[in-house]
Amino acid sequence: MLYLRNLIYHPTACPTAILKTINLELAPQQLGLIIGPSGSGKSTLLEILSGLAEPTSGAVFWREQELISEQLQQLAGLVFQFPERHFCGGTILEELRLGHPELGIERVRQALGEVGLDHLSLSAAPYALSGGQQRRLALAVQLIRQPNLLLLDEPTAGLDWSMRRQLISLLAKLKQDWTLLVVTHDAGDMLAIADSCWTLNHGELESVDPTTLEATIKEPLPAA
Ligand SMILES: Nc1ncnc2c1ncn2[C@@H]1O[C@H](COP(=O)(O)OP(=O)(O)OP(=O)(O)O)[C@@H](O)[C@H]1O
Ligand SMILES: [Mg+2]
Repeated sequence: MLYLRNLIYHPTACPTAILKTINLELAPQQLGLIIGPSGSGKSTLLEILSGLAEPTSGAVFWREQELISEQLQQLAGLVFQFPERHFCGGTILEELRLGHPELGIERVRQALGEVGLDHLSLSAAPYALSGGQQRRLALAVQLIRQPNLLLLDEPTAGLDWSMRRQLISLLAKLKQDWTLLVVTHDAGDMLAIADSCWTLNHGELESVDPTTLEATIKEPLPAA
């Protein structure tokens, strides 16, 4: 279980806090979805949860243990927005082994299998894959480390309709084994696979019921 307790992020140079007293709970093998407009603090929250930034105050707990940034770096795997732009391996094998040259071929194949890419040659070049396959490879790059918590920043951004559907089905499958926290500005069809849902506006997090939100999106209120 992931717990955030009164998390505040307020860099001294900013007139107001970027994240304001965030409280959140996410159970294992669930998919949490945070929806917020541009500039609301989504990526900042993921940076804190992945140990890349320190909160000003408040705490992050995993099970009963409060974690510091170094521990969060071990616990969490962050998939950045447009992760394929950061590929630097010449082959799929190199990409998956970056930073972990000791990982055996079994582990490499397992990670590719989790994202449905086990049919690809390990010597294929990451840049030669389709957009959807690149996105899957970026997920495998994090899964191979076997993080307890997978953090995804706008995972469907820039994908066409069919690749988007495929990625959403993959996330639905992954949550059977992993705990996922997704941030996006456009929930769309991701609401259908979310177990918990929040909105983030100007750094304020509010819990919402995914089914209510889905109904609102599908049937917008008539104009007054
Ligand atoms: N270290 C920092 N110092 C000052 N301001 C910052 C810092 N980090 C982020 N910000 C500001 O915090 C706000 C939230 O940024 P963030 O990137 O988290 O938003 P976001 O919700 O991910 O937006 P987008 O959907 O455009 O990616 C922005 O106004 C940004 O300019
Ligand atoms: Mg962002």
